[in-house]
Order: sequence, then C-alpha cells, then structure tokens
Amino acid sequence: MSRTVLITGATGTVSAALMNALEGADVDLRALVREKSKADGPREQGAEVVVGDLDDARSLPAAFEGVQDVWLLTPNGPRAPENNMNVVWAARQAGVERIVRLSVVGAAHDAPNRSGRLHALSDRETERCGMRWTILRPHWFMQNLLNEAGDIAATGTFSLNMASARIGMIDVRDIAECAARVLLDDPDRHHGQTYTLTGPRSLTFDQVADQLSLALGRSITYLPVSDDAKRKTLLGYGVPRWIADMLEEYAQAYVSGWGDVATDTAADLLGRPPRDIADFVRDHAAAFTSADGD
Ligand SMILES: NC(=O)c1ccc[n+]([C@@H]2O[C@H](COP(=O)([O-])OP(=O)(O)OC[C@H]3O[C@@H](n4cnc5c(N)ncnc54)[C@H](OP(=O)(O)O)[C@@H]3O)[C@@H](O)[C@H]2O)c1
Repeated sequence: MSRTVLITGATGTVSAALMNALEGADVDLRALVREKSKADGPREQGAEVVVGDLDDARSLPAAFEGVQDVWLLTPNGPRAPENNMNVVWAARQAGVERIVRLSVVGAAHDAPNRSGRLHALSDRETERCGMRWTILRPHWFMQNLLNEAGDIAATGTFSLNMASARIGMIDVRDIAECAARVLLDDPDRHHGQTYTLTGPRSLTFDQVADQLSLALGRSITYLPVSDDAKRKTLLGYGVPRWIADMLEEYAQAYVSGWGDVATDTAADLLGRPPRDIADFVRDHAAAFTSADGD
C-alpha cells in the first residue's frame, strides 16, 4: 500500500518543488494549506488538500489521520518553534511513523542569527519526537535571487548587503529532490541523520553577477550596499521588521565568512552533482529579463 505523505508549507517555494519531485512516485500526497482558496496549486500537483493552520493546534488533527510521513516545514517567524511543536504533537497523536524536517544551515543554539537559533529548538524537539526522523539543513537558496529579478531586468544591477561574502548556495530543486529521496527510501535508511545541503561551490555575488551576465547576454553588476540601505529597501517593500532583522543577522554572518561552506551531501543523496549557479540562471533567464521579474 502506498504511504501517505503530509506536506506542510504546501504553497511555498520548497514544498511546491518537493511535490514536483514526488510526481509519479508511489506515494499519496496530502497538502496542508491555511485557506481553501490556496488549494488549486497543490491539487494540480496531484495532492489531496486539507485545511489547517500551524498556529492553531486544534485545526490540525484531521489532517494527520492515516498519514505515515510528514514533511515538516515551518515558516520564517518567531512562532516557528510553536508551529513545529504543533506538528510533532499532531503527528504523535495520529501514529505517524516518520518526520522529515526542513531546518537551515548552521542551526545551533549559538548560531549568529535568530532563524538558526529557532531552528535549533525545533531540531532538538524533532530528534526526541519518538518517531523516525531526518533533518535537512540547506544553505542559502539560489531562488532568493529571484527577489532581485525586477532590479536586474530593469537596471542590470542588484544590491545586497553581502559585501564579498562567499556562500555555498543551493538550488531549491535539489533540496526538494534530496527530500524526495529521503521520503522514498525505507524509513530506517535516513533515520537519525542531519544533512547539511549546499550547492557544488561557495560563491561571491560578483561571481553570481558574472553568471547572470553570461546567461542573459548583457552586463549585470552586483552593488554591495550597507545594512542600513538594505533594511530601508526591505521595509519600504513591506517586509516585516522581524524578517528584516533576521536577514541583516544572516548578512552580517555571511560577511564574516560564516556561510563559506560546501558539502558533498547533496551529491551523495542525488547520485549526481547538485545544480550549479550557471544551471539556475540559465533555467530562470526569463524571470531576470522581464521587467516585473515574472
Ligand atoms: N530562504 C533561504 O535561503 C532558506 C535557507 C535555508 C532554510 N530556509 C528555511 O526555509 C523555510 C521557508 O521555506 P520556503 O521558502 O519554501 O517558505 P515560503 O515560500 O515562505 O512558504 C511558507 C509556507 O508556509 C505556509 N505557512 C505560513 N504560515 C503558516 C501557518 N500558520 N500555517 C500553515 N502554513 C503556513 C505558507 O502558506 P501561505 O501560502 O498560506 O502563506 C507557505 O506555504 C524556513 O523555515 C526557512 O528558515 C530558508
């Protein structure tokens, strides 16, 4: 009998890619969405859609009935550990067998950023959940560059407060394929493992700009800016202050060299090298060309 996998964060970047990666696999997909109006995307990806809110434990039990595996993705925010706790509790009550959790690179109680410290709390809880578990800790998503697509298309430049930081950035499609590998393997195979997932190499944003220039056939320039300038831009776009603070902490850590890490783990799980930045910019060239970044 096929296993049922409950996908949290189903309308988001990573979980949508995971559902793509699981397309055609012998699993039954069940997608958790906050509102019925968000059901179309996951449904088109072949999932049964259930409604529940990770902020509201009472909304969750029905979604977990008959589920063997949970893909546990918590949104960025101060309530992430509570969200994780609600999922682990609902999973335990429902007799779920395995949790595969999305964490973040460098998650630790002494990480230099609040996201890493919050994820560490949920990683610890997951490790002690009494079910089989696997934790994925991906590095900076290449897909974050799509936030700069509008500027790149309109001005040929993009501005980040990353100075000459080197980052082992990874394509979300590879994170998703690693997650799919874990979910499709026997539950014992990856039990108790924490995998730090990176792309094939650590890159500066000047190198990213070079790859964008090659792929787009025109000059793209990276403009390093101050923390204050970036914060002003983000707040101006309506990004919540908590998220702006979190991003600034990451930027400062990366500028200090904290993100200069590349592992072989994704290649080991995928049985091939993870996608390079050249692959990412080639596959997303249209987004960096149209003025609205679509
Ligand atoms: N960006 C990076 O470079 C990076 C690197 C490593 C790890 N991470 C981690 O990746 C995670 C974010 O993944 P992502 O980028 O795929 O997220 P995302 O695109 O921002 O999507 C978040 C998902 O969570 C859902 N959600 C939000 N609040 C919810 C709630 N209260 N109840 C149920 N669902 C809720 C959203 O649903 P709606 O559609 O209803 O909003 C959406 O489906 C975070 O844990 C972050 O720390 C990020």
